[in-house]
Amino acid sequence: MAYLDPISPSLTIFKNPQLTRFQIAISPPNPLLLSRPGIQNLRMSMNKRSVVIASSTTAASEKQKKRYPGESKGFVEEMRFVAMKLHTKEQAKEGEKETKSPEERPVSLWEPTVDGYLRFLVDTKLVYDTLEEEATSPTYAEFKNTGLERSEKLAIDLEWFKEQGYEIPKPTALGKTYSQYLKDLAEKDPQAFICHFYNIYFAHSAGGRMIGRKVAERILEGRELEFYKWDGELSQLLQNVREKLNKVAEEWTREEKNHCLEETDKSFKYSGEILRLILS
Ligand code: HEM
Repeated sequence: MAYLDPISPSLTIFKNPQLTRFQIAISPPNPLLLSRPGIQNLRMSMNKRSVVIASSTTAASEKQKKRYPGESKGFVEEMRFVAMKLHTKEQAKEGEKETKSPEERPVSLWEPTVDGYLRFLVDTKLVYDTLEEEATSPTYAEFKNTGLERSEKLAIDLEWFKEQGYEIPKPTALGKTYSQYLKDLAEKDPQAFICHFYNIYFAHSAGGRMIGRKVAERILEGRELEFYKWDGELSQLLQNVREKLNKVAEEWTREEKNHCLEETDKSFKYSGEILRLILS
């Protein structure tokens, strides 16, 4: 029967149990492959050659997956992976960076001052003011009213310091520069802006809280500032924002994702400089 001729070679595969197993083992339904017509055609011809090509394409896509740690769990995990590597071992156990500046030493060895801490709080408020103002623009509408906002909490804390007789300083050049930088990114570079957004809010919920507790023990008789309190369950608020970030990043190309990840260095540089004010 002439119409069977084109597929007859594949029948030899099915007659050979060894080849049949091979075909099943290396060609699971893979949406990446099936969505590409060229590969699909090769698989449908079911000869040895198609098996080899499909297999090497699968291997290539697996190899690519390995290049982005955390990718399988969503983009936030990718950002977290890059961020953790930029900590020193003394800051966090996943850290890999060499300790160079004083704020990279264990917090227990810090010698904070109230004036320095106030400079840190004022600059930090300016940074949160900027993020929270920008979140009102339609581009970042997803990230408005997440419950992680810190600007109003910091305003309460600064008021308390004032009542205690401290003079509240003006923002330093570091805070002003970072704020301007964030404004520029918000307008021109959403992927980079999101990198800072993630690092600032999530850093504060992790290492930032520990820093707040230790500094308060040393210079504020253990008083817990509003900056370190959230309305609602913090873990749930963070999870909600993780999900939103993952969803937004699903629309990004791999290049845009990489661009976002590359911005992590700058995020650490700016935030690290402001953190160092605690020791000034
Ligand atoms: C003295 C400085 C710092 C200390 C002591 C510190 C410490 C830590 C610790 C202990 C964690 C938790 C690690 C874990 O989950 O096991 C963490 C997480 C994190 N840190 Fe830092 N950190 C510091 C500075 C920074 C800076 C400057 C940034 C960036 C702006 C940053 C970004 C992050 C991020 C994004 C996470 C992941 C949070 C999460 O998993 O939700 N950290 N940090």
